Amino acid sequence: MTDQLSIADPHCSDKEGGLLIPCDIPGADAWAKRRHLLDTADLTVPEIECLMALAVKCKKLHETTRAPISVLNNKIVANLFYENSTRTRSSFELAAKKLGASVLNLDIKTSSITKGETIEDTASTLVAMGVNAVIQRHSSSGAAHKLAQALNDEVHVINAGDGWNAHPTQALLDLFSMLEIRPSIAGCKIAIIGDITHSRVARSNISLLKKLGVDIHVAGPPTLIPKYLASLGATVHSRLEPAIENADFIIALRLQIERQQQGLIPSIGEFQRLYRIDHKRLKLAKPGVHLLHPGPVNRGIEITDELMDDTNVSLISRQVASGIAVRMALLFLLLSEQTPSKQRFSNVV
Ligand code: CP
Repeated sequence: MTDQLSIADPHCSDKEGGLLIPCDIPGADAWAKRRHLLDTADLTVPEIECLMALAVKCKKLHETTRAPISVLNNKIVANLFYENSTRTRSSFELAAKKLGASVLNLDIKTSSITKGETIEDTASTLVAMGVNAVIQRHSSSGAAHKLAQALNDEVHVINAGDGWNAHPTQALLDLFSMLEIRPSIAGCKIAIIGDITHSRVARSNISLLKKLGVDIHVAGPPTLIPKYLASLGATVHSRLEPAIENADFIIALRLQIERQQQGLIPSIGEFQRLYRIDHKRLKLAKPGVHLLHPGPVNRGIEITDELMDDTNVSLISRQVASGIAVRMALLFLLLSEQTPSKQRFSNVV
């Protein structure tokens, strides 16, 4: 991972905190031109590397300074969550506030959405109030693309999860967490286990990790693996064991229990018997394997309690912490008016 980004702040010394300054590294110019983050599919490798490098700086900044810095202090970020969330919504709020932005958390239940106002009209209303970025989670696949089209280029749209389609910042924070363990993941074997069909996390991870040369294996009940998955470049298994054999990382997915009334698996017990990851099964993987899960975890169903709480293996808490750093970096890259080519920024560093 490149480490050419610098942190400095013209308003305070490096010791006191810092302004994040992207210098001329590949990817920074592309971010300066990008309006939205809707999926990982259209991210280039230089953009991914630039974001990861900046997130390293953001993580240090978040851990070492308490007070917000002022890089986005004239910006307003709106959280528009039509579906429940703990991690994504909270970490976007913390990330935006850390960079000095104002945050508007629209309470969907008490908003005019309950009177039938459309997604587009709701967002346009927020834009008219001066909102610079809309972070949206919605149960419909494609909702983020629809919003970005409707709002044209007036505002930045960040997809915080749309239906079964995409959850780009989750994939990016998963990548960041893995890069903290290994400096490069090219050539790694990564297994993605469980309910693939309903998982926007799986789709965003596959498209991101393929770009970086990862060998991706998926396993789950055949009824929970879409037919087209092999065409995305993943090796598909119906049994857990060959998928996790020699794996460097395992990503367990949440079994979307609310959808199991549709009879997609015989029973939760059968799923546990065949696909739950425990210390014994982990012995098939590479020594030093690490386990990720996007959360929320159904304790004891996808992973045993003992494994989930084993911090030598489980990266779950690290993923949550990474979420703030990655979202700080993303908000900065999308919203900052600084461009890498401006001389004054390289002078500051
Ligand atoms: N991983 C994830 O998206 O969690 P939340 O639903 O809590 O945001």
